[in-house]
Amino acid sequence: MILVTGGCGYIGSHCAVELLKNNKDILIIDDLSNSDYQSIRNIKLISNKNVEFIHGDITDIDVLNDCFSQNNIESVFHFAGKKSISESYKDPLSYFSTNVKGTINLIESMQKYDVNNIIFSSSATVYGSDYPLPWKEDLILNMPHNPYAKSKLMSENILKSYLSTNQNFSIGILRYFNPIGFHSSGLLEDKVLGSSNLVPSIISYLLKNIQFLPVYGDNYDTKDGSGVRDYIHIIDLIEGHLKAYEYTKKNKGCFVWNLGSGEGFSVFEIIKKFEELLDMKFDLRVLPRREGDLAEYWADISKANRELNWYPEKDINNMVKNILAFFEIKKENN
Ligand code: WQD
Repeated sequence: MILVTGGCGYIGSHCAVELLKNNKDILIIDDLSNSDYQSIRNIKLISNKNVEFIHGDITDIDVLNDCFSQNNIESVFHFAGKKSISESYKDPLSYFSTNVKGTINLIESMQKYDVNNIIFSSSATVYGSDYPLPWKEDLILNMPHNPYAKSKLMSENILKSYLSTNQNFSIGILRYFNPIGFHSSGLLEDKVLGSSNLVPSIISYLLKNIQFLPVYGDNYDTKDGSGVRDYIHIIDLIEGHLKAYEYTKKNKGCFVWNLGSGEGFSVFEIIKKFEELLDMKFDLRVLPRREGDLAEYWADISKANRELNWYPEKDINNMVKNILAFFEIKKENN
C-alpha cells in the first residue's frame, strides 16, 4: 500500500486517482486544512475503487505512527504542505512547522516502520533567482528568499542527509514548475479556484466572480513585460510521479527531477490563448508586482526525459483547451 500525504489537495488528489488507476492500494492522510472530504468521495467515484482515509495532521507523529503500524505501507508520496508564497511571508513559522517538521516526522516514522521509499513534492522555487535559465537540477543552491521556498529546500536537504544513515532508502525529489489544468471529470479539487494563481484567476473572471483580470506587473525585463512561467499539465506532472516511483523502486539513492514543460510563456501570451479560443477580449488591469514574484523562469527537463523516459504530452494549447472544458463544467454547475 502507498501512503499519500495531502491526498485531498490539488496535486495529491490527481495523483491518488492515477495510482488507483494503476491498481495501487492507497491510504490518504490529510488534515483537510485546504481541502475537504468531498475529495475522497470524488476520488472513489472517478476510480470506482476504495480509498482508506485518515483525517490527521503530519505534525503529529503519533498519527503517522498509527498509519504505519496499522497498514502495510511500502512507499510514501508526500504532498502534505502549505503552498502559498505570499502567506509564507505573513506566517513563516507555520510553513516551517508543517513543511519541515512534517517531513521530519514522516522520515522518523518511516524509519521506525522500515519503509524505505519516498516521492517528495518539491518546487521550482528552491532555485531562488540567481541562476541562468533554463534551471537544471545539479545547480548548487543558495538559500532562496521566501519562507515557502526555504521550507522546501530545507526538506530536500533533510531527506538527503537522512539518506547517509540508511543505505536502503530511496528518494525521488520532484521540483514542480507551474502545474495547471484539471482531471477530465471536472470533479477534482474545487479549492484551487479560491487561490490567486493565474489560471484560477482566469476561471474566476470567466465565471464573473471577479470583474477584471489582474496582471501583476507589465514592466519586467521579459519578452513583453509580464511574468514568464513554465506551465505543466497536472496529468503530465502526475505521470512524472509514477515514473519517479518506478525508478526509485529500482535504484537506491536520492534523485532530483524537474517537472515542467521546458518552455516559458508570459502572462499576456497565456491570456491571448484564452481570448483567441473564446473569441473575446478580457478586461485587464495592470497592478503592481506581487511580493516575491520573479520575472521569468523555466525548466531544463532533459534529466527527466533521459532517466525517467518522461515527456509531457500536453502543450500550451491543449492545456488551455482542458481548462476551458473545466470552466464549461463549472459554469453549468454554477
Ligand atoms: C504566474 C504568473 C503572476 C495571477 C507558483 C505556485 C506557487 C509556488 C510557486 C509551487 C506570475 C501572474 C497571476 C493573476 C497575474 N508553488 N499573475 N495575474 O507565482 O509562479 O507560483 O509557483 O511550488 O504555489 O502557484 O504562479 O499562477 O500565481 O503566477 O498576472 O491573477 O501570473 O504575477 O507572473 P507563481 P501564479
